[in-house]
Amino acid sequence: MIEIFTRVSIRKFQDRPVENEKITQLLRAAMAAPSAGNQQPWEFFVVTDKSKIEALSQISPYAACAKNAPAVIVPCYKTEGMRWPETVLIDLSCATENLLLEIASLGLGGVWLCAAPLEDRMEKAEAVLGNPEGLRAFAVVPVGYPDESRTQQDRFDESRIHFL
Ligand SMILES: Cc1cc2nc3c(=O)[nH]c(=O)nc-3n(C[C@H](O)[C@H](O)[C@H](O)COP(=O)(O)O)c2cc1C
Repeated sequence: MIEIFTRVSIRKFQDRPVENEKITQLLRAAMAAPSAGNQQPWEFFVVTDKSKIEALSQISPYAACAKNAPAVIVPCYKTEGMRWPETVLIDLSCATENLLLEIASLGLGGVWLCAAPLEDRMEKAEAVLGNPEGLRAFAVVPVGYPDESRTQQDRFDESRIHFL
């Protein structure tokens, strides 16, 4: 899959909305992710309200780039009824990586902005979402048409491979 080797974090966005069909396709990719016991502990909030986007950009000093995105996706995880609660953050990581790869595949840009497991950031994000019951905010992912471009850094390091 080419996007694995071309995706980069995009933090600058054109002033242009993302089509609804593309948002749906992004979430289709996110929900295609593997999860422990196939428990799929995720729910996704799609935020396009400008004042809510601005509030999400303030969950941490490292989230400011969300401010000018036309849409922000907030993957959340369920806190109840999971067979494997210990793995929900791992499950959400898989879904969020799928989301980022599909963002790149559709010619869009985005970046994973950290919420979980940092309690203060999670609470700030959840407040923006209206404190949905039984859900915790996992990450904040601004999405839009890129207004910057970069080549992916080559991180391949043979010395980190250990054949036994
Ligand atoms: C768990 C996680 C948390 C991250 N949190 C932030 C963040 O809060 N703010 C930010 O600007 N980038 C954040 N990033 C993006 C990383 O900085 C970025 O992926 C890394 O520098 C590598 O660059 P690349 O994505 O362009 O390959 C995060 C990435 C991950 C996986």
